[in-house]
Amino acid sequence: MDTKDSSTLDQLSDEELTIKLDPGLLPKHVAIIMDGNGRWAELRSLPRIAGHREGIKSVREIITVCLELGIHALTIYAFSQENWNRPVQEISSLMGLLEYYLSTERTKLIEQGVRVRTIGRLDSLPTSARQWVQATEQETAHLDRLHLTLALSYGGRTEIVDAVRELLHEVQDGKLQPDDVDESRIQQYLYTHELPDPDLLIRTSGESRISNFLLWQLAYTELYFTPTLWPDFRRRELLLALLEYQRRERRFGRVLSAISS
Ligand code: FPP
Repeated sequence: MDTKDSSTLDQLSDEELTIKLDPGLLPKHVAIIMDGNGRWAELRSLPRIAGHREGIKSVREIITVCLELGIHALTIYAFSQENWNRPVQEISSLMGLLEYYLSTERTKLIEQGVRVRTIGRLDSLPTSARQWVQATEQETAHLDRLHLTLALSYGGRTEIVDAVRELLHEVQDGKLQPDDVDESRIQQYLYTHELPDPDLLIRTSGESRISNFLLWQLAYTELYFTPTLWPDFRRRELLLALLEYQRRERRFGRVLSAISS
């Protein structure tokens, strides 16, 4: 977005930003790396967990806006495999927050028509967090308005390793020939096999990295990096990201005339 455009947008209200969106050009699937909770808390001399707690409010608001706009899928990086290296106290607070979120939000998510899925190595989660996750997945399995995927104990490389392992077992059992393996076959073995690839990836907090998130699925995804810290990423920030997305030309490696013809 050039400076002139962004300064014009700065003067618009949330309602005016919403009107500027082209409903026909919205991403079907938005993925988010929610970063900056710790810094948000440190800036206020609060413990890091206060940033994660405030981050949950952003999760709630972003889900609401996705529902209002008719965005079909939202995938959020809630806990990476690398996050297991954090201090034990922070890990346990994050697991507690996950349980708190699912227990307090489940009824509302069901009313809103949100189907909750998780991706990642769930067997690493503490038993009670895993039980909350599985119960929520089961209770929302019939819903279809918004597909919310929580990446938990997730790593993109591990996801590919798990897919390759499963494929090799199928080959070993004679159910699959090596020549049957192509991109669509690999896609069927990924954790996200039921979802389309993300159209838009948002990362907050000024870092411009993918950090082992959805490595296969992001091949043609539009990337949007913002300095805003996750607890401050609310409705307006999402609208600005969507407007920027709508300004991009998605060519998927082709030339534009070949796409329109
Ligand atoms: C990154 O911020 C954020 C996380 C590791 C966890 C994200 C978790 C939440 C938003 C709350 C839980 C979510 C759900 C859905 C229950 P950081 O701590 O790395 O921030 P920093 O880079 O500023 O230290």
